Amino acid sequence: MNNIISCNQFTRESLEKLLDLAKKIKENPNEYKNKLDGKIIAPIFFEPSTRTRLSFETAALRLGAKIIATENAQNSSTKKGESLQDTIRILAGYADCIVMRHNSDDSAEIAVSYSKVPIINAGSGKKEHPSQSLLDVFTIREKRGKIDGTKIAILGDLVYGRTIHSLLELLSLYDGIEVWGLSKEAFRLPEKYKKMLEDHNIKYHECAGFDEIPRDIDVLYHTRIQSERFDGDFGKEEFIINKALLSKFLQNTIVMHPLPRLDEISEDIDDDPRAVYFEQAHNGVPVRMAMYLTVMGYAE
Ligand code: CP
Repeated sequence: MNNIISCNQFTRESLEKLLDLAKKIKENPNEYKNKLDGKIIAPIFFEPSTRTRLSFETAALRLGAKIIATENAQNSSTKKGESLQDTIRILAGYADCIVMRHNSDDSAEIAVSYSKVPIINAGSGKKEHPSQSLLDVFTIREKRGKIDGTKIAILGDLVYGRTIHSLLELLSLYDGIEVWGLSKEAFRLPEKYKKMLEDHNIKYHECAGFDEIPRDIDVLYHTRIQSERFDGDFGKEEFIINKALLSKFLQNTIVMHPLPRLDEISEDIDDDPRAVYFEQAHNGVPVRMAMYLTVMGYAE
């Protein structure tokens, strides 16, 4: 795999291979510290980011690579009107791998067609966020011991939440997955993703309230309403996970969120062992190290 731009590139086998590598890296990071000695990574982010950009940078440094980056790609020559394709052509002559976040749904595909070095998609519009969903399934597997049979509730913004779309794509590679969706009416899961689930024999339950989510659910996966992606004001999230709500679920239910959070998850559950969102974000480093090694041809 020379680029990672979409979750639809993965088979179950190639996904498991990457997750296994990330597990080995997490267990024994020192073994990988020189793997990318002499390599240069160019992270270019046209949208704000804390976790994705900094964990991709950490992952590169932990592998021994060096980084060239502008903190905000809006300060690059894009501001003068340079096209994405020209920016990519130039960076591909400087770096050995490009990590890109962009507000256009098609940006990753465009980048691949103009780059002679590997492209990693760090978020493309409302469409995909493959590195996030790779660390999401890594976390689910780590916590449950397996991904098959996962019962997951997806909450928040199911329309513009690219992490949701990518996660459903990866989960559809597994058996026995069942999904419950809970969101305000304006943010319900689009038909094309429901169809994708149906095509993989995955049952989807659209819910009107938390009481329709089974109390033995494995994962409650909440997301922020992506207000930067649409005009208008649909108000705040009304389905909030707090201590009282979480007490209705079993002890093995985990709470995940790609972060940043707004009001979706109350801080009163942060110390509950079922709240795994900070650990989930930290898993971004070994998973993104595994992504570099995969696209740059260093995966075993
Ligand atoms: N989860 C995620 O993509 O976070 P950032 O926007 O901070 O990178």
